[in-house]
Amino acid sequence: MYAARRIATGFAQRRAFSVSAKQSSKVTVLGASGGIGQPLSLLLKLNPRVSELALYDVRGGPGVAADISHINTKSTVKGYDPTPSGLREALTGSEIILIPAGVPRKPGMTRDDLFNTNASIVRDLAKAAAEAAPEANLLIISNPVNSTVPIAAEVYKSVGVYNPKRMFGVTTLDVVRASRFISQLKGTDPASENITVVGGHSGATIVPLLSQSGYNLEGQQLDDYVYRVQFGGDEVVKAKDGAGSATLSMAMAGARFAESLLKATQGQKGVIEPTFVESPLYKDQGAIFFASNVELGPNGVEKIYPIGKITDYEQKLLDVAVKDLAGNIKKGVDFVKANP
Ligand code: NAI
Repeated sequence: MYAARRIATGFAQRRAFSVSAKQSSKVTVLGASGGIGQPLSLLLKLNPRVSELALYDVRGGPGVAADISHINTKSTVKGYDPTPSGLREALTGSEIILIPAGVPRKPGMTRDDLFNTNASIVRDLAKAAAEAAPEANLLIISNPVNSTVPIAAEVYKSVGVYNPKRMFGVTTLDVVRASRFISQLKGTDPASENITVVGGHSGATIVPLLSQSGYNLEGQQLDDYVYRVQFGGDEVVKAKDGAGSATLSMAMAGARFAESLLKATQGQKGVIEPTFVESPLYKDQGAIFFASNVELGPNGVEKIYPIGKITDYEQKLLDVAVKDLAGNIKKGVDFVKANP
């Protein structure tokens, strides 16, 4: 009985693998030996939609690649040396490029405090990506996302290859947290929660729209929930006590977003993820980029959903977010203008 079930399960798994596996997508991770880079690369190696995994870092890329390459899934894995030709090779032919390269926060730091270091790292990596793989989807994880995405966009514009449909700031972790935290309050299954989170990816720019999932928390409980979603990253920074910020939950979130994009690229319809993209929603207020629910398709961004109906409380949060975002975005654009 047990053996029969095992055989049946094995068969079902093999069938599922062959049905979903369309082994034709090269995915590149820049910053692959970091706290996020390693578990993210591991999760991508486990994804049958990935056919080739290219791992690049300024240190340790080939070591991480050698380790991950022993996992018995079909995709090939290669690590690249930190040279211009190594970087170019890692990027060439890539369909999805994820960038978790850069420094993380220490206790007491905001994401904006990372700007000075990470702005030039993202600028340089974006330049290499724009030249070697201009058609790829670029997924930026490095903080401050509100500024690093505009930096990458300016770089692509300067190379003449900017396509707003293919440039994304990864804000999935905010949705993951918002969903987990509400499930803790309400005793629901976190996997079936999907709280919409809009705005950007730092403090007050993160706006959970709880009312859209039919929840109506009030008073202190609502304030506490919103604060926890906006500053959930600080809980991890504090607990890690100087050793960095969220890496494992971020790797899961990054892998989820890449998986959604691969599904959409491989023809699946109705794939919706919130993400920070060039957006018409608050453009007139200077927030040229904005995170909201986005339908993904073979060409990247297929449709940007409007915010929809929200409460007065959520509107107030949104007003603050848009104002902050406009400043964060301008800072990124100005950086590239001053430091091309
Ligand atoms: P980490 O320091 O553990 O890893 C960063 C990696 O980037 C290191 O291996 C380093 O060698 C590499 N690196 C640095 N400069 C590079 C370059 N020019 N080219 C290639 N690789 C380079 O940091 P961790 O924890 O992995 O965080 C990475 C970034 O992700 C940080 O900026 C952090 O703030 C951000 N982050 C973003 C989140 C989001 O929701 N979008 C969530 C959590 C972190």
